[in-house]
Amino acid sequence: MNITYKYDILDYHLFYVDEIDSTNTFLKDNYISYPDKTILIAEKQTNGRGRNNHKWVSSNDLTFSILFKEKQNYLIPALAIVNALKSFNIISLIKWPNDVYLDDMKISGILIEDVYQEEFMASIVGIGINLTDKPDFNVKDLKELYTLDKYELLKKIALEYNILMKLDQKSLIELYKKYSLVLGRYIKYENDIYEVINIDIDGHLIVSNSNGIKEISYGEIEIKKALI
Ligand code: BTN
Repeated sequence: MNITYKYDILDYHLFYVDEIDSTNTFLKDNYISYPDKTILIAEKQTNGRGRNNHKWVSSNDLTFSILFKEKQNYLIPALAIVNALKSFNIISLIKWPNDVYLDDMKISGILIEDVYQEEFMASIVGIGINLTDKPDFNVKDLKELYTLDKYELLKKIALEYNILMKLDQKSLIELYKKYSLVLGRYIKYENDIYEVINIDIDGHLIVSNSNGIKEISYGEIEIKKALI
């Protein structure tokens, strides 16, 4: 494992590694030695991690983590990806909380990990974007996605991230709702079916069914295609 500095993208510092267990794990363990807004991009991860202890398996995709020394707004990474893809005319949506979908296919996952040592030390935003491994061209825009240059996409994501960091929570939520894949749809959560009727200012889902209205603030949801 040999980590090399490549160049700066805006105010981000891009480092490259050929093979590593996980870019998130590395930056979590080494945040002290790297500056704010370090991006570590890996050609290959041998132990890529997803949310809820899932594995993240990818090869030849866009796989990177960003180290921030300030607490991050959890809405921003998915929105940055959606906006970046939009600049290449690829229209994607966000499945709560922060998966990015083309049609009904997940193309990107985000793992945000905060490091605390009594107080907040760092936030690692890990992003994986599948640029090659699901050859299902029935999905609109998938072919376009596969022709994207990794580093061009990364540059756009950094640019969009910085723009979004300047917005207040209300504007972020408005955007998040605009690009939501789940708003107005039926979902399954902990064995019950609900309709998603709103997303509140904290980014929590407001859902309803015959038992009433409730708020979902964590966990996994499944989108239901039909009410069966
Ligand atoms: C998910 O969908 O569950 C989140 C997947 C996050 C994967 C990225 S790839 C780069 C970074 N390093 C990791 O080990 N995970 C994240």
